[in-house]
Amino acid sequence: MDAKTVRDVDVGGKRVFVRADLNVPLDDNRITDDNRIRASLPTIVYLLEHGASVVLASHLGRPKGKVNDALRLRPVAERLGQLLGRPVRMTGDALGPGVQVAVDKLQPGDLLLLENLRFHAAEEANDPEFAEALAGLADLYVNDAFGAAHRAHASTEGITHHLPAVAGLLMEREVDALTRLLVRPARPFHAVIGGAKVSGKLEVLEALLSRCQAVLVGGGMANTFLAAKGIELGKSLVEEDQLGAAEHIMSEARRKRVRLMLPTDAVVAPQIHHRARVRTVTIGEVPKDMMVVDIGPETLTAFTEHLAKAQTIFWNGPMGVFEMPQMADGTNAMARFIAGRTAKGVVTVVGGGDSVAAVEQLGLADRMTHVSTGGGASLEFLEGKTLPGVAALLPADAEIELDGGSR
Ligand code: 3PG
Repeated sequence: MDAKTVRDVDVGGKRVFVRADLNVPLDDNRITDDNRIRASLPTIVYLLEHGASVVLASHLGRPKGKVNDALRLRPVAERLGQLLGRPVRMTGDALGPGVQVAVDKLQPGDLLLLENLRFHAAEEANDPEFAEALAGLADLYVNDAFGAAHRAHASTEGITHHLPAVAGLLMEREVDALTRLLVRPARPFHAVIGGAKVSGKLEVLEALLSRCQAVLVGGGMANTFLAAKGIELGKSLVEEDQLGAAEHIMSEARRKRVRLMLPTDAVVAPQIHHRARVRTVTIGEVPKDMMVVDIGPETLTAFTEHLAKAQTIFWNGPMGVFEMPQMADGTNAMARFIAGRTAKGVVTVVGGGDSVAAVEQLGLADRMTHVSTGGGASLEFLEGKTLPGVAALLPADAEIELDGGSR
């Protein structure tokens, strides 16, 4: 990537503020997917092994500027401690006198995790004073939070006005992998897009139409496209206010001669429930009292036959309600198929929370070229947008001057 990274700085004896994205899903204080914590380890370990002391910070959930006990980072500290093989100390707040005392005691090789940054409204407001106060805790800033790089917050952007700012190893890996999709990707480049809703993915769909030779649409969002073609879908989720947008995408695909594939059959159920009985029907024959919950086998075959021609594949969003086993076949088969292509030399990139969760659940993450830790961030990156957290890093050819001397 065109930015300085931790490897470009002599971090020995320095105090380093590391912004990570430790925003992991929690179920009653239990972490249900620790992928983002594991992905943050290389940078933390690198810094500790090179004699830095690390002040680690993250957000968790959306507490909207208020302390919320359900969104404390304690479970993250515990999991991080297990992975590092040593206890991880935490502060009770992200900033304040107690934090300063704890930071002042840090020795080379020490690690301290700050409490959830978003307990302060100043974080999301990118408040300059808050950013400066965070910067005051360290000599160097490392952004490893690719998942939050699309946010211009105090800890992702504001802080870089006060400290030399370099990329962490995860940030570097993410940017390099996703750049491979933007800059001369091996062709054909096909995208598989799913998930519940078209809204929120319109811009990335448009961008993909300019980059890909085929876009395959599954999941709940395919319903909106099918409905826009006048197809009856029973009681399936359809975004009525997005029908025009879906039509626009389809006409853009025709204009750009990009193949836009939609499901031709579907798994349907009377409701989304773990005991709901499912059956397969042809699209156009969805019963009035049923809803689409997965792509059908004919669609899967058509999709994978077409994908078999691709040299680059990007996948975002599940093909159905994969949390229910009887509605997960399409998503699971897609994950297995794409993973199998990597061994054939195809560049395979998975981005976005739910498809990543499916890949992780199946133990296939290591068999993809890259599995992004970013949801919104990876989509915005592929839209060609400048991510504030990336843009704020020092360019690769910049000089770095560290104030504060050795600690
Ligand atoms: C994410 O989960 O996509 C990131 O952690 C960013 O979270 P946010 O959407 O609440 O800013």
